[in-house]
Amino acid sequence: MDFTVAIDGPAGSGKSTISKIVCSKLGFTHIDTGAMYRAVGLFALNKKIDINDEEKINSILDDIEIKYVEGKIYLNGNDVSGLIRTPEVSAAASKVSSYKLVREKLVYLQQQASKDGKYILDGRDIGYKVLPNANLKVFLTASIDCRAERRFKELPNANLDEIREQIKVRDHNDSTRKESPLKMADDAILVDTTEMTIDEVANKIIELINERMC
Ligand code: DC
Repeated sequence: MDFTVAIDGPAGSGKSTISKIVCSKLGFTHIDTGAMYRAVGLFALNKKIDINDEEKINSILDDIEIKYVEGKIYLNGNDVSGLIRTPEVSAAASKVSSYKLVREKLVYLQQQASKDGKYILDGRDIGYKVLPNANLKVFLTASIDCRAERRFKELPNANLDEIREQIKVRDHNDSTRKESPLKMADDAILVDTTEMTIDEVANKIIELINERMC
């Protein structure tokens, strides 16, 4: 039986963490679509390409091969899973993800990769664009302070106030851009995780999946 789950939400809302847990408990495959935008951002930074130059970014898209396999992201055959998690790459990903051709390429890859089987895709546009017919759509959110704290725990050498500001900028860019902004699908279920533990959120989503699978 095929079954797809779309999980959207802002930076730090717990999408990837929760998706991984639910996938390992239920035997689903996770696709972290943000990692794909990060890989494009990393490629541009490595090549010293101005990420604000949309035409230039468009011109390099054919040189980029991205694969997401078993929780690892490969850029032209190299595992870049660790390299994409820096604040520089976060900012570059947020910028390049506003470009139409970048989105067309990655949305196509995401749709192809989740065709047959049981998948959870997490991102910003999954519920209304990548998987409009998903069996379950969830929009995860949390307060800005809570999301900043969560990122801070992952990057303890960073500065909490700076992280909060970076998340605010990303929230603004991701939700106000013209191409597929961060948006809750009309038929998505809103889950505010501010006061919830990771296990509580994962169990809530497992419950929703089980309800829809029956
Ligand atoms: O989920 P993340 O923080 O790793 O995503 C990195 C950036 O990629 C984020 O700022 C917005 C963009 N993104 C997107 O536009 N669409 C998606 N489906 C996933 C991520």
